[in-house]
Amino acid sequence: MKKNISVIEGDGIGPEVMKETIKILNSIAKKYGHNFNYQKTMAGSLAIEKFGNPMPEETIDSCLKSDAVLFGCIGDAKYDKNPRGMRPEDGLLKLRKRMNLYCNIRPIVVHSKVNKSPIKEELLDGVDFIIYRELTGGIYFGEKGRSQNGEVAYDHCIYSKEEIERIGEMAFKAALSRRKKVTLVDKANVLETSRLWREVIQKIALDYPGVRLDFLYIDNAAMQIIMNPKKFDIILTDNLFGDILSDESSVIASSLGLLPSASIGNNKSMFEPIHGSYPQAKGKNIANPLGCILSGSMMLEYFGMHKEKNLLEEAVKKSIEARICTQDLIDTEFSSTTEEVGDYIEKYIRNQ
Ligand code: IPM
Ligand code: MN
Repeated sequence: MKKNISVIEGDGIGPEVMKETIKILNSIAKKYGHNFNYQKTMAGSLAIEKFGNPMPEETIDSCLKSDAVLFGCIGDAKYDKNPRGMRPEDGLLKLRKRMNLYCNIRPIVVHSKVNKSPIKEELLDGVDFIIYRELTGGIYFGEKGRSQNGEVAYDHCIYSKEEIERIGEMAFKAALSRRKKVTLVDKANVLETSRLWREVIQKIALDYPGVRLDFLYIDNAAMQIIMNPKKFDIILTDNLFGDILSDESSVIASSLGLLPSASIGNNKSMFEPIHGSYPQAKGKNIANPLGCILSGSMMLEYFGMHKEKNLLEEAVKKSIEARICTQDLIDTEFSSTTEEVGDYIEKYIRNQ
């Protein structure tokens, strides 16, 4: 298969983790006779410096034309004071919106061989849930503003029935091939948007009699995820709650550096690790590349390349079992570099 992939390395550790990911995807392509054609394009700080815009139109164009986008990470404190629309993060939000990537899928899996989690081991064994986070609506994209004197500010949270339906359908479909449970996380005791979410999702549930639907308020969910993470299968939630729950869930998985994600729209898709740009680690060859590599694996699955995805994930599993891990996962004295982790996985794939 031939696939055109837009690549945005981004800021901080982005280029390092992306380098390992592409090395591994190339070895998959070689083994299975695929042709992955990468087009590197710019976003984030580099784009601000070069084009005065964190998400230039050329980048959006390239992404819209490609079969998928691989995204590293963006963010740089240097631009924190930039006006709205001009921070690196604004570039990412703009791309999500322009590509209409409304469904963000974030799997949380615990690998039994690493345990850097502060949570008791017996609570973690066998945890396997997926967050379905709405990605192009809600408080992130509603009208924002300030009063004239700057002393009053607002962010509107808006959702339409259609926006809720399209991600709701995807969450229920995913549950069918898993443990058949959807938990809607909201704040329906306070927020009107949450009440609409409940109405719409309850209607969808009627079409999926085999799937159990339950509801949790976000404050309670934040507690349950830590106290009893095994009870979750699919967590369905809005943009802001999904953002918060995913970082919280990374504590269960030991490291934010491990977690991948897929953002899906109608015929468009982007794959990116959950972690940020981690500027303190930039250029040090210590960042965990697995979040980015596993995002590549989600891309393979999206392309329908199931054997390929399975081999990549097996290779990642072997690297963890062999304790070839970066220092977020094991003690520094035994840790491997970003590149060594990538090399191990690449070699495993090549030798299979
Ligand atoms: C994420 C990130 C982004 C978000 C930031 C960088 C805008 O935290 O993908 O979780 O809030 O969506
Ligand atoms: Mn986040």
